[in-house]
Amino acid sequence: MTAPKKLFIKTYGCQMNVYDSERMAEALGGQGYVQTQSPDDADMILLNTCHIREKAAEKVYSELGRYKGLKAEKPDLKIGVAGCVAQAEGAEIMRRQPMVDLVVGPQSYHRLPELEAKARGGAKALDTDFPEEDKFEVLKRRPKAKRGPTAFLTVQEGCDKFCAFCVVPYTRGAEVSRPAARILDEARDLVERGVREITLLGQNVNAYHGAGEGGDWSLARLIWALGDIDGLERIRFTTSHPNDMTDDLIEAHGSCAKLMPYLHLPVQAGSDRILKRMNRSHTAESYLAIIERLRAARPDILISGDFIVGFPEETEADFQATLDLIEAVHYGTAYSFKYSTRPGTPAAERDQVAEDVKDDRLQRLQALLTRQQRATQEAMVGREVGVLFEKPGRLPGQMVGKSDHLHAVHVAADDVLPGDLRRVRIVESGPNSLSGVLV
Ligand code: SAH
Ligand code: SF4
Ligand code: F3S
Repeated sequence: MTAPKKLFIKTYGCQMNVYDSERMAEALGGQGYVQTQSPDDADMILLNTCHIREKAAEKVYSELGRYKGLKAEKPDLKIGVAGCVAQAEGAEIMRRQPMVDLVVGPQSYHRLPELEAKARGGAKALDTDFPEEDKFEVLKRRPKAKRGPTAFLTVQEGCDKFCAFCVVPYTRGAEVSRPAARILDEARDLVERGVREITLLGQNVNAYHGAGEGGDWSLARLIWALGDIDGLERIRFTTSHPNDMTDDLIEAHGSCAKLMPYLHLPVQAGSDRILKRMNRSHTAESYLAIIERLRAARPDILISGDFIVGFPEETEADFQATLDLIEAVHYGTAYSFKYSTRPGTPAAERDQVAEDVKDDRLQRLQALLTRQQRATQEAMVGREVGVLFEKPGRLPGQMVGKSDHLHAVHVAADDVLPGDLRRVRIVESGPNSLSGVLV
């Protein structure tokens, strides 16, 4: 028997890419590849890339540069670029880095086995189509390997919203929802393999409208159906758009016990003028109204968000409106970015904000968000929460897991195993995690 070939995958960007990397590893598993943690002993290196901000793409090119020596030593080493940079740049990647053998877009990764064979044969392999066939069906999860307690499951892909700053509609294509029955099958399979928490993924996950029994299902309907799976204890979903926050989904947060009290709901900015220029089609007020209804349904829900500072034409007053919105919402956690020009998107052509102004605004925004994050964590002290344990902590006898509100929680506990869901009383809040004791 020949020794298995080794595959090194490096993943950038969103959770969707994490999910896709698992699927790609499985696809290449059929070609005799096993995964390795180091590029040095790999027969194939695959970078699963992100194109969301300028630096993201540049990182890929500098990472490729690092493999030059390796490729010179090992001519049989194949180097592939997958994901959103692959989709956006296509053959240009091979022109800029001739040592790249394979380029595959996010919609074509089920064709990896053929592409790999082509690259092995010495040809350049490129596929950035948006094919008709359902890649998820072509690439069913390979049988029955045991899994950790948490998993991602992609239910929806692509986006039709065309925010003026964003490349996702171009790299991931139009919005498509997977049929409900296939998602339920995949979820049942994950649970049989040890998964107790599933995070449903989509660039616009709450726009989900997959075919199901009796017509198209909403995300809320899908969540209720997943809730009936025995052994599945927790359900989360990300990322949502404010305009698709439907009544049934808000209500599910109040009444579906398995749906966790956490929602990532990006707003991007607090100034209606800027929101309009961003083509977000919601206002600060409509966003705040959704938050209010969510909190009425589930008072302890933790809200997370995304922010862009320094969007073209953003004035100090516009920025202040963003700070005001943050004060009004009180975020449990958040991600914030300086606006980054993406060629081909409408905002790239507009009057740009100076870099030092962006830096200053980002700092002020992050200072406020950090204060809110700390306060949210400190408010957990003394409370009892559910914790799903995932792995041993750094100290002997310590286990780490995630709370219902997605906080990392450390507990000293000898008799707890990964996959155990236990009640924990929080006793202390550190910079980035909580610690507690078993109840
Ligand atoms: N679908 C999600 C977000 C997808 S991209 C939504 O609608 O909110 C993830 C985050 O990256 C965005 O929420 C936004 O905050 C940020 N982002 C996207 N394009 C960007 C750009 N050109 N510059 C800076 N940040 C950007
Ligand atoms: Fe990008 Fe906007 Fe679509 Fe989110 S909703 S993926 S930010 S275009
Ligand atoms: Fe990046 Fe593509 Fe995700 S651009 S954020 S990897 S959808």
